[in-house]
Amino acid sequence: MKWVQPDPKRENWYWPTEAMKARAWVSDPKIYEEAAADPVAFWAKRAEEIVWFQKWSETYVDEPYAYKWFVGGKLNLSYNSIDRHVEAGKGDKVALIWEPEPPDEPNRILTYKDLLVEVSRLANALKRLGIKKGDRVGIYLPMIPEAVIAMQACVRIGAVHTVVFSAFSAESLRDRLVDSGARLLITADGYYRRGKLIDLKPQADQALTGTKVEKVIVVRRTGHPVPMDPKRDLWYHELVSGEKDYCPAEPLDSEDLAFILYTSGTTGKPKGVMHTTGGYAVQVYTTAKWDFNLHEDDVHFCTADVGWITGHSYLNYGPLMNGVATVVYEGSPDYPDFGRMWQIIEKHKVTVYYTAPTAIRMHVKWGDEWPKKYDLSTLRVLGTVGEPINEEAWLWYFKLIGGERCPIIDTWWQTETGATCVQALPGIGPFIPTVAGRPFPGIRAKIVDAGGTPVNVGEGGYLVIEPPFPPALTRGLYGDPEKFKATYFGEFGPRLYFTKDGARMDEMGNIRITGRVDDVMNVAGHRLATAEVEDALSQHPLVSEVAVVSRPDDIKGEVPVAFVLLKAGAQPSEDLKKELIKTVDKYIGPTARPAEIYFVEDVPKTRSGKIMRRILKALVRGEPVGDITTLRNPECVEELKRLVGYKG
Ligand code: PRX
Repeated sequence: MKWVQPDPKRENWYWPTEAMKARAWVSDPKIYEEAAADPVAFWAKRAEEIVWFQKWSETYVDEPYAYKWFVGGKLNLSYNSIDRHVEAGKGDKVALIWEPEPPDEPNRILTYKDLLVEVSRLANALKRLGIKKGDRVGIYLPMIPEAVIAMQACVRIGAVHTVVFSAFSAESLRDRLVDSGARLLITADGYYRRGKLIDLKPQADQALTGTKVEKVIVVRRTGHPVPMDPKRDLWYHELVSGEKDYCPAEPLDSEDLAFILYTSGTTGKPKGVMHTTGGYAVQVYTTAKWDFNLHEDDVHFCTADVGWITGHSYLNYGPLMNGVATVVYEGSPDYPDFGRMWQIIEKHKVTVYYTAPTAIRMHVKWGDEWPKKYDLSTLRVLGTVGEPINEEAWLWYFKLIGGERCPIIDTWWQTETGATCVQALPGIGPFIPTVAGRPFPGIRAKIVDAGGTPVNVGEGGYLVIEPPFPPALTRGLYGDPEKFKATYFGEFGPRLYFTKDGARMDEMGNIRITGRVDDVMNVAGHRLATAEVEDALSQHPLVSEVAVVSRPDDIKGEVPVAFVLLKAGAQPSEDLKKELIKTVDKYIGPTARPAEIYFVEDVPKTRSGKIMRRILKALVRGEPVGDITTLRNPECVEELKRLVGYKG
């Protein structure tokens, strides 16, 4: 089935076909105007699609730094994810498909009924261990069904989960456990990654000193021997075996804290982003449904780890609230070979695939032969998230994975927004490489200059969100209300949430995200974002990816330095450098000219694919590079040191 068709006039623009429009939840662009006329009423209508134990009395409270949604309403995220489907007679539908990394190990498939039993048992066990509403529970688990079960068990009883990515170090885990004051930790013996057994329990043990953790629940995933402290540690399977199969879902206030998720800011200390129950449930449910056009027969495969917001919202809560099957894959995309993801899609007849541009670029590098080996014809919608996607990767994804049949939904959002905010909708379109799309109906996003005034069509500026703030927008940073105000409302005041992203909008209202702007330079008295220079350079047709950082300069104060990755086949040369300078002149002006352009093979990135500009900055400034152990590609740092003549 063809779900998209090309625009007759504009190259690489696509629109939904009639088949897609017929299947889509929304296909009439009027929805944007309708929602814009009264966003609060729009969200109230969406909220009616989920189950409330008690209806709200006030839909939106517009207080500075203390906006609230569905006030007085009572609901439960876990009830909406599981019980409502079981009660509707859909208990035998598949809820979760677990794909272990070892290819010969059987899948674990849980129906909604199974999930209700598993979640209830753990929830009952947590209660028996004294965990009460509002208590924080750390979750340090690999990609196994228990990760979803643990999150669901917490929200079921009103405990606040704080999930820590299993590849984070003991130090990072400790910081988060201390900051959140967690009383209990759920972890595992280990997991498999690239065919190797990875220990997890010893890291967890190391992280506990200095925390308030009293009990540790350990999932037996690999079965290899791990140290167990008989006073503190409990095996998950033993703990839940005697528990009852049903635990009622606690009616929670709409504004009760659901979870804390730590994310990095511009400083070294992670920030505990808080999400509450009602607004988060409504926006996650609605965006999952509309962005990916979810129907009950869909098989949704989100490749994000549960340790990131994408795993929270679009691997766990979003798909389950929509009653679809969610695929959880334990391991690495290149194990046992580069075709693993495509093999999983074929095997489980995946219909929606949601991944990151970094992953797509990796697949491009691995070669076309891998996806070509598999039947990917069940796919209907492809999604991307987390960073701007370059045209080359977009087109590869569109052609090789989507077979030129599927829309690419490029979703812009953040840990702080909890759910997607800017994207094209599958039944409406258009789908354009490097352009995310319009703000979701009911979300008022605009692009402003440094003074908060909207910029003209096509001009670069800052992406901000106006009240009524999106229902899922963070309510604050755990334990640090002042930092919350300063970080997001410091620039433009309490009526404009500042995303810290640069963006530009076309005449149709489609937004292109150009990247973070927190790294601001002052070049010869001009305020300039590194992301703006990156945006300009990436306009050059041979540039694949680019990172710009600033370096002090005796005369101009600071100057930009660019690290440029070229497209496949392009050759670095002095002439190309001159062309790039001209491109910067064209899009910004001579003040933004990079003082230096380095053609490189790779730049340091986090595991989630973000360029670590901090490291590049240290390299060009000859400063200490700091900890690089959490990078996805620490090996590139040595090569870069050589290239820039680092003497730090
Ligand atoms: O810069 C934007 C980028 O990722 C940032 C948020 O990162 P994080 O909180 O880790 O959440 C990532 C997953 C939602 C944003 O400020 N970003 C996210 N999605 C996109 C994006 N940049 C461009 N296009 C996107 N689709």
